[in-house]
Amino acid sequence: MHLLVTDHEGLEHTLEALEGWRVMEVIRDWGLSIKAECGGACACATCHVYVDNAWVDRLAPPSDDEIEKLDEAFFVESNSRLACQILMAADTDGLRVKLAPGTE
Ligand code: FES
Repeated sequence: MHLLVTDHEGLEHTLEALEGWRVMEVIRDWGLSIKAECGGACACATCHVYVDNAWVDRLAPPSDDEIEKLDEAFFVESNSRLACQILMAADTDGLRVKLAPGTE
């Protein structure tokens, strides 16, 4: 399965991903620049990504904790999510996200 990620320079990368991995972990493990300071505990908002509009409604909605934490992020848009809170699964194969400013 794959994840498509646009980096801070605007380049899109196709990353191989494994089921059950968090989107943040896939991005980090492939060496793209993502702070993810809390390691996926939904406590830092430095894994902020913009989800491609075609995918927004296909993802499980954010938890209250994620919504609360996103409030602390910068440049939040309606398609903002925390990459550590999205799991790779059959229904997220091919997901397309863009790294938000301030996460590098
Ligand atoms: S890695 Fe900290 S909130 Fe996602």
